[in-house]
Amino acid sequence: MKKLTQTAAAALIAALGTSSAYAEEIKVGLLLPYSGVYASLGNEIEAGFRLGLETFGGETDDTFEIVTEDTEVKPPVALGKAKKLVLQDEVDVMVGIVSSGVLGAVRDFVDGAKVPLIVANAGNDEATGEACSAYITRLSFSNQQVNRPMGQHLYDQGVRKVFTMASDYAAGHQMIGAFAEAFEAAGGEIVGQEFTPFQKTQDFGPYMANAQASGADAVYVFYAGGEAISFVKQYDSFGLKADLPLYGAGFLTSPLYVNAEGPAAIGVIAALHYVPTIENEANSVFVEAFKAQNDRAPSEFAVHGYDAARALVMASAGGASDREALATALSKTSFDGPRGATSIDPATNNIVQPIYVYETVANENGEGLTQKVLATLPATADPANGCSLAN
Ligand code: PHB
Repeated sequence: MKKLTQTAAAALIAALGTSSAYAEEIKVGLLLPYSGVYASLGNEIEAGFRLGLETFGGETDDTFEIVTEDTEVKPPVALGKAKKLVLQDEVDVMVGIVSSGVLGAVRDFVDGAKVPLIVANAGNDEATGEACSAYITRLSFSNQQVNRPMGQHLYDQGVRKVFTMASDYAAGHQMIGAFAEAFEAAGGEIVGQEFTPFQKTQDFGPYMANAQASGADAVYVFYAGGEAISFVKQYDSFGLKADLPLYGAGFLTSPLYVNAEGPAAIGVIAALHYVPTIENEANSVFVEAFKAQNDRAPSEFAVHGYDAARALVMASAGGASDREALATALSKTSFDGPRGATSIDPATNNIVQPIYVYETVANENGEGLTQKVLATLPATADPANGCSLAN
């Protein structure tokens, strides 16, 4: 971390009478997709992060400098960019990563370089399980966290046979795996599965035909970003929506792009850790501030960035003055935020938060779509799967 100029530091010390007042410039590397199917997610996380620094930055004397790098949603490219941020730019902390595949690719480098990473999206279960690291703290969600509760929920709704579909990479497999395990444990049956080529599938028709022929009562999916928009529109135009209700991990109908999906998204039921219609004080403040800057409601991706900034400010305000101290402080984060009570599990550095089951509905004023919360499920810490960071 770069110290302020000697004169500025001396002035601060004189004013406060203590050398602990040394203000630092914390260099932050934002490692996000600015191109590819998740480009809009990357931009949204950055917008949330910058708003978080504006909102909470006054709570610390430190200042923040941001350097951005585009992962392109390509694991090898992302690893190269992470190395560049650490070795060339000498960042104090990295924030970001959208794809579980990218997180898997940079994990060993981050752990070995001992640079704190605040995960601001990627749900890769292993990063806070068997491959956890004291330097990786997740402020977003885990893949199992948002999908597991939907197993029981669908069964409780009378659904008995499900066909699943997802992008064919780590996140798709982990999300569907968690859902299927819980659905089967509740007594349901998975009657068929498709994993579609990630970032390459334009026509979901052949897979949808298999779902239609499977004898399922419902379809459960994970798609996000550009793929979610194509999938939801094609599901409707294929004529499946009326016969086979569509459920999924809530990224499917994220407020970030649900208006691009249009009426095809109406009636889809999904689970997420955040929707902008959650009613609490911190969320009202966040939604209003985000709307003032962007003229629309924030999504779950915006809240990841916002909360990541808040956690970083809290760590810095607590006096963390090197990378190791930052990592330790980040793992102790806890606050009441837009998603409700939000904390980090010290055993795994993974987030613990409530999960919301929501339905996409037409706005009462007839303009666009909104999220109706159907159920709030209590926060549960993920199993540690061999990770034991707390000592
Ligand atoms: C992931 O790869 O972990 C991932 C990507 C996009 C999402 C959610 C999870 O919306």
